[in-house]
Amino acid sequence: SAAEKGGYDYFMLKEIAEQPKAVADTLLGRIDGSGSLTLDEVRIPPGVLREIDKVVIVACGTAFHAGMIAKYAIEHWTRLPCEVELASEFRYRDPILDAQTLVIAISQSGETMDTLMALRHAREQGSKVLAICNTNGSTIPRESDAVLYTHAGPEVAVASTKAFLTQLVACYLVALYLGQVRGTKWGDEIRAVIRDLSSIAGAVDQVLVTMEPVRELARTLASKKTVLFLGRHVGYPVALEGALKLKELAYMHAEGFAAGELKHGPIALIEEDLPVVVVVPSPRGRSVLHDKIVSNIQEIRARGARTIVIAEEGDEAVVPYADHLVRIPATPTLLQPLVATVPLQVFACELATARGNEVDQPRNLAKSVTVE
Ligand code: G6P
Repeated sequence: SAAEKGGYDYFMLKEIAEQPKAVADTLLGRIDGSGSLTLDEVRIPPGVLREIDKVVIVACGTAFHAGMIAKYAIEHWTRLPCEVELASEFRYRDPILDAQTLVIAISQSGETMDTLMALRHAREQGSKVLAICNTNGSTIPRESDAVLYTHAGPEVAVASTKAFLTQLVACYLVALYLGQVRGTKWGDEIRAVIRDLSSIAGAVDQVLVTMEPVRELARTLASKKTVLFLGRHVGYPVALEGALKLKELAYMHAEGFAAGELKHGPIALIEEDLPVVVVVPSPRGRSVLHDKIVSNIQEIRARGARTIVIAEEGDEAVVPYADHLVRIPATPTLLQPLVATVPLQVFACELATARGNEVDQPRNLAKSVTVE
């Protein structure tokens, strides 16, 4: 009913709008007054976490994209090697697991069979499993050694939005907590990240109030056959998530690529007026990546692509090459997915609506897939 949807036409729109609160709720009570993390709820003793020598993340769909982003954060902040794998592939390749492996299973529903089977396999090999989950008391957290709940609230639309943002927050918290417990790289940088995380809900809100041009653009692209998405570093999984949303909702061919891989194949796909969404890393800090992606945008535009550029406020270098420019607030590099994903959600939702699709219940999909 309309009341359930909080005045929005679709649950997905309501859930997109709820993201600032979902992010803030997931941080609530987990950062103490001195700016340290208090994750006592993670019932794996610090002694065990200090002995871990590898992290493996398993998940499906949108949760898998959160895991891909977590890998960048975990390796950067803790120096622990981190792999991320589709849960459905994991146990069938005889992965190397032991008691020193921390397996993180990410699942909104907590009932995804592929993810459940992956974590069961990991526990059989003696690994510790930490679940990141949005559903209290569901099977995945019940079968894990520990759980960090995301506080997105119930997510009804099949395509995941607010759960994804809170999965990212939970992943950052776990990465920072591992750094804190293990004493690796703990210090000013990590404290600064925790401060930045505390203000990120406001940044998400800022993105939401500037989305009208993105909706207008989406409507003009409703009859397109293909949309490509490019990104690098943490922008690469964001590109994959943007493409997944478009497949799920608009039933369009959409693909995400690592921008550096463009020249190794995908550039052959570029043709006149093909929409290409590019997620641009911050020009500050890792400016090498920024320069490289700006030349990618030039290259595809020279070949006729219609460039839709998602770039930080104040990034002037992209302006001459952007047919459409979407501004997002400046954030530290690793946190950018929290703001960069939002325009892609809005884009997919509006494009699907323009094509007459039922956005909350896309054809052939289920909210939670309880078969392997
Ligand atoms: C289904 C949904 C996806 C979701 C995936 C993983 O395929 O349609 O939106 O990302 O399952 O779900 P989970 O509940 O494990 O996060």
